[in-house]
Amino acid sequence: MKKTLFFLSVTLLLICVCCTDSGPNDKNSYSVIPAPASLVEMNGKFVFTAKTKIILPELTEETKLAADYLASLVKNPTGWSLPVVKSKKPSAGSVFMSLDTAMTNKEGYTLNVTPGKIIVKAQSAVGLFYAVQTIRQLLPVEIENAKIVEGLTLSVPACEIKDEPRFVYRGMHLDVCRHFFPVSYVKRYIDILALHKMNTFHWHLTDDQGWRIEIKKYPKLAEVGGFRKETLVGHLGGKPETFDGQHYGGFYTQEEIKDVVAYAKSKFVTIIPEIEMPGHALAALAAYPELSCTGGKFEVYTKWGVVPDVYCAGKDETFNFLEDVLSEVIVLFPGQYIHVGGDECPKIRWEKCPLCQKRIKVEGLKDEKELQSYFISRIEKFLISKGKKLIGWDEILEGGLASEATVMSWRGTAGGIEAAKQKHDVIMTPANFVYLDYYQCEPEGQPLAIGGYLPLEAVYSYDPMPTELTQDEQKHILGIQGNVWTEYIPTTEQADYMAYPRMFAIAETAWTSANKKDFEDFLARFNIAKLRYDAIGLNYFKGEYYDTRAAKK
Ligand code: ACM
Ligand code: ZN
Repeated sequence: MKKTLFFLSVTLLLICVCCTDSGPNDKNSYSVIPAPASLVEMNGKFVFTAKTKIILPELTEETKLAADYLASLVKNPTGWSLPVVKSKKPSAGSVFMSLDTAMTNKEGYTLNVTPGKIIVKAQSAVGLFYAVQTIRQLLPVEIENAKIVEGLTLSVPACEIKDEPRFVYRGMHLDVCRHFFPVSYVKRYIDILALHKMNTFHWHLTDDQGWRIEIKKYPKLAEVGGFRKETLVGHLGGKPETFDGQHYGGFYTQEEIKDVVAYAKSKFVTIIPEIEMPGHALAALAAYPELSCTGGKFEVYTKWGVVPDVYCAGKDETFNFLEDVLSEVIVLFPGQYIHVGGDECPKIRWEKCPLCQKRIKVEGLKDEKELQSYFISRIEKFLISKGKKLIGWDEILEGGLASEATVMSWRGTAGGIEAAKQKHDVIMTPANFVYLDYYQCEPEGQPLAIGGYLPLEAVYSYDPMPTELTQDEQKHILGIQGNVWTEYIPTTEQADYMAYPRMFAIAETAWTSANKKDFEDFLARFNIAKLRYDAIGLNYFKGEYYDTRAAKK
């Protein structure tokens, strides 16, 4: 009898501890990527029920986005439609999300989770949204899918989080020219950016191998420039050169672009469109050969690399055309930046073109490098007149930077350092640390990639802030971006495989302060987060994450 009583009381005690949600939580339940500035683990947990309310004192279109997003996550596995209500009082059992203008960082937030309620504070709606992304990572993975899970307990472990980003620019790029990716994939890519508190999507929309955006005034750009007759098989430079014989292409209509831009806005992601010039323009020239130096004839490129034919810098028609194109682009993309490429522009046609040479003479330019600078500066004047800012790859330094241009440093960091010294804004995107088309482990047995060796650990190790800059110059380093070039990435599955988890390392570098970064800790959190990535259906790389070559040195 005594024994039975003893067991009964132990069982009751255990039931009590579990049911009151007051005990310590499993360490693993606090896994957040990117790591918050400060996270204090506490006892107990908040449990969502069908009666939970999401309360906002300031209910605006923007703050509602954050609240609705949380409601949609809860609805996925439960079917509950939590009410989003306007009130100044955080009632018991609710999620209370308020704005606090005294907070200094526009994107920062605080998150207090207790068994009684969740309190979120942020200076602006985006901070509330990032708090929701943190709550998302603290909730069970079942919230990721719209599939009812009977008996699921939706709980968030108690904690106190104070968080804000290190950099204002946290970006990822996707090349949809070398291979074309559908709207659904682009939207999911944006989702994954938002989940990791990244705020910019750089959409590489035009290149030699395909023009991917409908331009109403020049329909042939998409109709002709959007398609190539076939594609190189294997690696560039492989012999014999063979092609797949498959007509390939696609483009986004302006309606689709508007839809993606609106989607990104709802996830607090800004899209920077890239319209390449003066080089990487063969698809446009295939459609409108009169814009070249020679007059053509051209085909949309079927191989990779750099081609000699570029826009003619001597013809005013080129600038009229580009201004018309950009006028349509500007209407579609409300963000402040337009990216105009500027990289890898061979000068061989300009050297022989009478019109380009005349332009050099008339404008008093020294050489073709200065002609490129003239080209970019002329376009920049147009963009500024439309209230936009120009971004270009670091080649736009050659021949002199356009007056207010922002530079993306991709050929290492020297271009970025030079631009910052010239007091220009810079985004660090050096190939040797953040080009996610590089191999991520020893190439043997891997799908064909462009080359390189860039394991997760090496990506994680990169710090975008150059120590050789003064404090004032450092202010021009806006942040970091990872790039996914797709010459050797033909499918969405492979894009996932190359992008993830290396993108998460870039997100942590972009958000988390340098002194809080720790690769072992990141790996431990990633190991827990894998369940979430599985639930989302990401085809992330599952091989060697350590830099084994560095370890051997
Ligand atoms: C680039 O990778 N050509 C910017
Ligand atoms: Zn020319």
